[in-house]
Amino acid sequence: MDIYKKNKTLFKLAPNLADYDKVYKDFDWEKVYGELEWFEDHKINAAYNAVDRHLKTHRKNKVALFFEDEKGDKQKYTFEELANISSKIGNYLKTLGVDRGDRVFIFLPRIPYLYFSFLAVLKIGAIAGTLFSAFYEDALFDRLENSQAKILITNSDLAQRLKTIRHKLPHLQKIVLVDDPKFQTEVAKSSESLHIAHMDPDDYAFMLYTSGTTGKPKGVVHRHLAILSQHLTAKYVLDLHDEDTYWCTADPGWVTGIAYEILGSWSCGVTSVVYSGRFDPQRWYQILQDYKVNVWYTAPTAVRMLMASGTQLVKKYNLGGLRHLLSVGEPLNPEAVRWGIEAFGRPFHDTWWQTETGAICIANYPVLDIKIGSMGKPVPGLIAGIIDDKGNEMTDGMEGNLALKKGWPSMMKTIWHRHVKYESYFVKDWYVSGDRAWKDKDGYFWFIGRADDVIKTSGERVGPYEVESALVEHPAVIEAGVIGKPDALRGEIIKAFVVLKPQYSTRLKDLNFLNDLKEELSRFVKKHLAGHAYPREIEFVDKLPKTRSGKIMRRILKAREMGLPVGDTSTLEEY
Ligand code: PRX
Repeated sequence: MDIYKKNKTLFKLAPNLADYDKVYKDFDWEKVYGELEWFEDHKINAAYNAVDRHLKTHRKNKVALFFEDEKGDKQKYTFEELANISSKIGNYLKTLGVDRGDRVFIFLPRIPYLYFSFLAVLKIGAIAGTLFSAFYEDALFDRLENSQAKILITNSDLAQRLKTIRHKLPHLQKIVLVDDPKFQTEVAKSSESLHIAHMDPDDYAFMLYTSGTTGKPKGVVHRHLAILSQHLTAKYVLDLHDEDTYWCTADPGWVTGIAYEILGSWSCGVTSVVYSGRFDPQRWYQILQDYKVNVWYTAPTAVRMLMASGTQLVKKYNLGGLRHLLSVGEPLNPEAVRWGIEAFGRPFHDTWWQTETGAICIANYPVLDIKIGSMGKPVPGLIAGIIDDKGNEMTDGMEGNLALKKGWPSMMKTIWHRHVKYESYFVKDWYVSGDRAWKDKDGYFWFIGRADDVIKTSGERVGPYEVESALVEHPAVIEAGVIGKPDALRGEIIKAFVVLKPQYSTRLKDLNFLNDLKEELSRFVKKHLAGHAYPREIEFVDKLPKTRSGKIMRRILKAREMGLPVGDTSTLEEY
C-alpha cells in the first residue's frame, strides 16, 4: 500500500522514493549513473563523490560532521574542511610511498582522524581497511597478515596491541600514530591540493574482514562503484534530504559505518553526527535532542536496551526533529517496532543487508506500510528471491535460501586472496546470502535465521571458529565448541563448551576454581581476540559431539542447549 499517495499530510517532507512500485519496475542502473560525478575519462572516485564534489555547490560551507566524545569534547567540520584535511593526509601518505592498490588499514576509535584517513586512502587510489577498536592481537594479526597491509594508521594507545605481532608482519612498513605531534606537523605542512586518483569503477576501494562458520575471517573487497548503491539507498531508504541532520550509530570498523556514515550518506550531502562514547540511553537522547537529529540509523540491540530503560525517560527529551528511524544487523523484534511508535511517535524501519552486499538490499520504506516483523521489500535495482540449494526459486511462503540476482554496484568484488571462496557464494546467477528466509505473496521478505553457525551478538558478526581458536590457545583447554545462544537483549550471546586438560578438569568440584577459570577464559579471549567476541557463558564438558572426520557439530551443541531435538546423529563419532 502506498501510504504517501493515500495520505500526504503524514509526511513532514515528501519522501525521496514516493512511488516504490513504479521506481522498482522502471529501474535501470545506467539511468542513475548521473547521481555520481564522473571524471571526463569515465573514471570515478568514491571519496571524491562522498565529499569533494560538494565543494562546487552550496554545501561547501555546510557542516558535514558534528563530532562529540564521551567527555563532551565537540568538534565540527564542513565539507570543505573534510576535503582539505583528507587531501593533506593523502599527500602525506604518498610521501610514505603509498601507491594505488596498496592496503592502508585504520585502527582507530570513532575520532575525526578515522574519517579523514578513510577518505584520504580512497582519494589516492589505495585500498582502505578498517579495524574495530575492540580488536586485540589475534584479530589484528589475521587481518593485517592476510591483507599484507603496508601502512597502519592508529594511535599510541591502540598501537600497544601490535607489540607482540609486529615482527610477524613483514609487509607492514609503517605504523602512523595520529596523536603523535610529528604526524600532525607533517600533515599540517602537506599541501591541500591533491590529485584525486581517477579509478575504474571496478577498482578496489575498501575491504572489511568478516566471519563465516569455518576458517579465519575473510577479506570482503568492494569497488569504487559501490558508492552508487550506497548513495541511492541512502536517498531512497534512509530518505536523506539536504536539510537533514543524520545520526548513524555504527562504527566504521563494520560495513554500516563505512556505507552510511562516510560514503552513501555524505554523498547525499547531509550533516552527520558521530558520537564516539559508549552506549548510554540518556546520552543518546541528549544527542538526538541537541543536534536535532532527523534521521536515525541504529541496531536492534540498541533499541532493546533503550526500551529497557523505559518510555518515561524518552519523554523527558524534545525529539521533535526525528522524522525517520531505521535499524539493521539482526532481527528487529515486533515489540521494538511498536515501542518506537510509543516512544518516538514513529516505527523503526528494518533494513537487511550484509558486509558482502555493501549496501541495503531489503528494506521498509517511508511510503510503504510496514508488516511488522518483516524485513521489507528489495531496493530498486535488486532482485531478491528465495531459492533451494540448486538455485531454483521456491514458491511464496516456503522457507529457503535468501538470494539476490548478482551484479548490483556494491556486490563484493572478491574475497582477498581467496577467489575460490568468493565463487562459492554463487549458484547459477544468484548471490546466496547464507540466511534462511521466506517471501509472502505481497513480496515482503521474512527472516528465519542463518543457514550456518555464524553468531550475531549485539548485531556484530562473530565466527565460532575464531573464538574456538582463541580458547584453545589457553593452557587449560584441549578443545572448544562455540555457539550463539539466544538472548533477549543481545539477540545472541556467545556460549563456549570447553574440554579441559585432566589436571584442570579434576579440580572442577571446587566451585571457586571453576568460576575463576571461567572468568579467566573469558578474559583471555577478550584480550587475545576482541573485546566484543568473548564467551559470556562457558560450560565445561567431557567431550564434544563430532563427525567421523573430526568436525565439531555446533548444530548439536545448539540443539541441546535449547532443548530441541538434535536431529540425525548417525554420522557422529562422539555423542
Ligand atoms: O544474518 C543476517 C544479519 O546480519 C548478517 C550480516 O551481518 P554483517 O555482514 O555483519 O552486516 C550487518 C550490517 C549490514 C546477515 O547475514 N542481518 C542483517 N540485517 C538483518 C539481519 N538479520 C535479520 N534482520 C535484519 N534486518
